[in-house]
Amino acid sequence: MTQQTSAASEQTGSASKTKRGGLEGVVAARTGLSKVDGEAGRLIYRGYTIHDLARTTTFEEIAYLLWFGHLPTKMELVDLKVRLLEERALPKVVLQVLSDLPATTEPMDALRTAVSAWGAATIKGKPTIDQAIALASHFPVFLAAFHRLRTGLEPLESHPELDYAANYLYLLNGQLPKEEHVQALNAYLVMLADHGMNASTFTARIVASTESDIASAVVAAIGALKGPLHGGAPSKVQDMLRAIGTQERAEGWMREALARGERLMGFGHRVYKTEDPRAEELREMARLADPQEFALARRVEELALALLEEQKPGRRLYTNVEFYSAVVLASVGLPGDLFTPTFAASRVVGWTAHILEQVANNRLIRPEADYTGPNETRFVAIDERV
Ligand code: COA
Repeated sequence: MTQQTSAASEQTGSASKTKRGGLEGVVAARTGLSKVDGEAGRLIYRGYTIHDLARTTTFEEIAYLLWFGHLPTKMELVDLKVRLLEERALPKVVLQVLSDLPATTEPMDALRTAVSAWGAATIKGKPTIDQAIALASHFPVFLAAFHRLRTGLEPLESHPELDYAANYLYLLNGQLPKEEHVQALNAYLVMLADHGMNASTFTARIVASTESDIASAVVAAIGALKGPLHGGAPSKVQDMLRAIGTQERAEGWMREALARGERLMGFGHRVYKTEDPRAEELREMARLADPQEFALARRVEELALALLEEQKPGRRLYTNVEFYSAVVLASVGLPGDLFTPTFAASRVVGWTAHILEQVANNRLIRPEADYTGPNETRFVAIDERV
């Protein structure tokens, strides 16, 4: 079945799944990259469960797995690392564009602008694996350059001996990072690299399906990831934890937020109807990384789950990946407005793997809409309109 007929038959054939909109339950692509089993709370990358990968692999191994289809041998991993290293310079055109942005620019907007400038100067033709590697390798470089520029510092050159996670922290801070920070960030990057047909990945595939270029597809994906219903949640989790402040205030604060019709950030998921398996891993990482912050977060989580069950019965709202991401990313020293861009620095691997998968077996993604406007309105010339 092609993508379009599959989506169309789902739409007509399973009205109950789709009646709430948002393409819920619609199959929009075939992929060998990752599977999200929302009922069982399982996430697998090319057959491997996330629990096996989270704290035992490097982000480069996961990039290899997603791009090339299998976990790398030692030689294959060395080869990929060399290719990533070769693409870590900050191109002049991007430095110029980032330098011209106001210091108040949101880092996600700066990243989107940098990728667009890089694409304009660099990218020609159909998406390739070389372009995917170059693009992913540049993400931490662009982000750290913007962060340093906005704080009045010069961007740094990448450290030749540091891998993706460690080099990102080095580029931000100008110091060799602590090993525990590198491990925590690496595990975070591993867990966020791909996640089925999430909104930004779908966006990337749509753009790629028009035979547009890889930079355009990734720019669009960054735009989709930015929203708080998708990747924009972790800094809002941090805002929530800060506003709550103490364990004693947690229940009252959340009751008031729910009474105002607000959502509790870091809870609920379109696909997971049980706990997000990444939340389980991140909870343990947060417990080790920052015991004090963890104690508050854990209490807020327990109360939030009870309140959501009480006030939204039957909706099956559980902890999602963003809740403990906020604690883990803060513990490695990242400012809140770099949380979502750091998510992007992981997901770029998934986006580009999906783009390559899409172009390898492409058909234009072009769904239909239920038209709800009038059908036979009588035309009135402009001079006669009142
Ligand atoms: N807090 C309070 N209520 C929530 C909620 C949350 N975090 N998430 C969902 N709900 C409620 C909705 O208000 C709705 O209630 P209703 O039936 O009374 O109208 C019901 O649960 C279903 O919500 P819906 O918007 O249909 O779910 P969705 O599948 O479209 O949304 C999310 C999924 C992730 C967008 C949603 O759970 C959310 O906004 N979470 C908070 C933001 C977040 O953590 N984002 C990161 C996602 S990884």
